Amino acid sequence: MKTSSCRIWQLVVLILVSVIHKEALAAKHAVGGSQGWDESTNFDSWSSSETFKVGDELEFKYTPLHSVVELPNESAFKSCDIGSPLKSLSGGSNTVKLDKPGTRYFACGTSGHCEQGMKVKITTVAADGSSASSASSPATTTTTPSSSQSTSVASHQHQLLSFLSLITTLLVSLVFFI
Ligand SMILES: *[C@@H]1O[C@H](CO)[C@@H](O)[C@H](O)[C@H]1NC(C)=O
Repeated sequence: MKTSSCRIWQLVVLILVSVIHKEALAAKHAVGGSQGWDESTNFDSWSSSETFKVGDELEFKYTPLHSVVELPNESAFKSCDIGSPLKSLSGGSNTVKLDKPGTRYFACGTSGHCEQGMKVKITTVAADGSSASSASSPATTTTTPSSSQSTSVASHQHQLLSFLSLITTLLVSLVFFI
């Protein structure tokens, strides 16, 4: 009796820990860093300083001058063809979940803003870090985010969270499995 209820608790704790772990590993990326979703932001440099993994989320924050459209393919992205978007978002604050590996294209839906550079290409890799699909990533993936950049704040928080969740896992394992 005692042993079996103990086992159930071990299972419950294991499930809880893995949920916490997964939550901590899913990062939120504020698109454009501290400047947000705006014409003045350099989105190429922002996106190349981030690593997007399956389960992560994009957060678009912007003024009422802007909106978010998801474009269907690379050619629509290149030519700023915002006429037939996959998705249109508005309201100043939107979250987009990156639910599978691959490349997605976003631009501002306001006329002329995409041409002014308000567009971003997001390449999501599998959660274990391996690039599952698309071999088309000539981006600077080897560049480690420098600590002087404000855009790296999110990734530092992310690292801290991962670290904390690892510690939690270890502590809980010690308490329950010894
Ligand atoms: C890209 O999307 C546009 C807009 O939906 C469409 O007209 C075009 O045919 C697509 N191009 C390719 C290569 O799929």
